[in-house]
Amino acid sequence: MKMRVEGIAFFLQVVAVLPFFVSGHWDDSVHPHFPRKVKKRSTEEKSEEDSADFWIRNAQEAVKERLLRRANENIAKNVILFLGDGMSIPTISAARVYVGGEEKQLSFDTFPYTGLSKTYCIDHQVADSACSATAYLGGVKGNYGTIGVTGNVKRDDCPPMRNSTNHVLSIAHWSQLKGKMTGLVTTARVTHASPAGVYAHTAERDWESDNDVIASNYDSVTCRDIAWQLVHGETGKKLNVVLGGGRANFLPQNTKDEDGFQGNRVDKVNLIKVWLEQKKQLGAKPTYVWNKEGLLGVDYNQTDYLLGLFNPDHVSFNLKRDKNKEPSLQEMTEAAIKVLSQSENGYFLFVEGARIDMGHHNAQARMALDETSEFSKAVQAAIDMTSESDTLIVVTSDHAHTMSYSGYAHRGNDVLGIAGNADDTIPYTVLNYANGPGYKASEGRRHDVSKDDMSNEEYRYPGISPLHMETHGGDDVAIFAKGPWAHLFTGVMEENVIPHLMSYASCVGNGETACDPLEKEWHFSRIMILVKKNSK
Ligand SMILES: *[C@@H]1O[C@H](CO)[C@@H](O)[C@H](O)[C@H]1NC(C)=O
Ligand SMILES: *[C@@H]1O[C@H](CO)[C@@H](O)[C@H](O)[C@H]1NC(C)=O
Ligand SMILES: [Zn+2]
Repeated sequence: MKMRVEGIAFFLQVVAVLPFFVSGHWDDSVHPHFPRKVKKRSTEEKSEEDSADFWIRNAQEAVKERLLRRANENIAKNVILFLGDGMSIPTISAARVYVGGEEKQLSFDTFPYTGLSKTYCIDHQVADSACSATAYLGGVKGNYGTIGVTGNVKRDDCPPMRNSTNHVLSIAHWSQLKGKMTGLVTTARVTHASPAGVYAHTAERDWESDNDVIASNYDSVTCRDIAWQLVHGETGKKLNVVLGGGRANFLPQNTKDEDGFQGNRVDKVNLIKVWLEQKKQLGAKPTYVWNKEGLLGVDYNQTDYLLGLFNPDHVSFNLKRDKNKEPSLQEMTEAAIKVLSQSENGYFLFVEGARIDMGHHNAQARMALDETSEFSKAVQAAIDMTSESDTLIVVTSDHAHTMSYSGYAHRGNDVLGIAGNADDTIPYTVLNYANGPGYKASEGRRHDVSKDDMSNEEYRYPGISPLHMETHGGDDVAIFAKGPWAHLFTGVMEENVIPHLMSYASCVGNGETACDPLEKEWHFSRIMILVKKNSK
């Protein structure tokens, strides 16, 4: 009889343990018989959480930390804008578990001020990275698929894009006009939609090389491609740092790059050579690098312009990257800050974690979370290399995605694994997409995910509606800010307000700024009123 009871108990335990085997995160060393208690933390730490003291102490520290906050009204000499492409709020929450646990903080979780950004564009409910870039870099909303142009320019329509009245200049341009150094870093092609928002004005985000313009039946000389604008455009040619992928858009079709890949250009122009010659003619000190070794070997005393193109296409996903050949986002960010911090007047730097978005489009949630972790490391590097007293760091995203983070899995459960069983008795995952390539049905039933290998980085998480590419989401994205005037980045705002706040803090652009005499007078009159009151 006793044997039978034990047998049943064992059977129940095995059933309970099953999801952990499936999710590949079963740690046999911790409580083998009580899988619901499996945590990466130690037993002692766990018991600490069980006491009220633990939470009260944490909360009181948080209260004190907030009471010590003072509005930082310094002038922001430097501004760094970090953009997690497609980094929705569920992506941030799930990435914390991916990096070590629900209670973990990403680097920017420690920033004192947060707000929400409304990302819709003029003609679409849900934004793409192009119209969104115009908003968070240029301060003006535009149409879907267009970059650095007003709503007067419709997608794929060249003539209105040539009219400079329709151009939207970015905060990089405003900063250049005030004698600041400027740069961009991305894990995408440097001609991709988000980085193009720094310097380009185009009716079509896909016109990355002249070959793409010709494919749209336009003349590539009257309708300039994005790579050309990076080298010749009024903002592009002044960028001191350009680091990312997309080498092929700068090289002719009959030319092979350092890795043996063909260029894309049909105009026979090697834009990398043009860039180097252009800077030398200015009497500047340009450096071009194409791999990690080159980047780590840069002589910063001899470099005031740095171009690094580390892949013919996008820089590889971190999980697939050859770590001896392609630099990480953190390494690129560090290099950019080393060049730009030589500027006496300060700098504006744009850093994009581009492949969070691409992981989501593939429904490869592991890739998206890993890219978010890499993005967090790059932000940490910037925090470590700068001072809160003169550098404003803003972290945000350009649009959400459809990934949900749900179910009632136990604490410490693999966020990339199973959450529990659904009413159809088939397990369901913690992360799911509203649509995308992860849609699977078999024999009229929901696909049984328990048979899948979710430890595979290319595993596609379930989607409700089949789509070859998962879509963006329309929900608000978060804004995190630290440094001068970070306290302005609160509340719910339209996305295009962001660069206006950054320019206020750093005294660039045509709007109101922290350096305005009017603003000072206002402060002065306020002080005088106080003095009068007190003297009565
Ligand atoms: C340029 O665009 C502005 C604003 O849309 C318009 O008023 C002007 O007529 C345009 N100029 C030309 C030459 O098309
Ligand atoms: C670069 O300049 C710094 C400061 O002037 C100096 O300490 C350093 O040795 C120089 N490095 C190189 C490689 O010349
Ligand atoms: Zn996207």
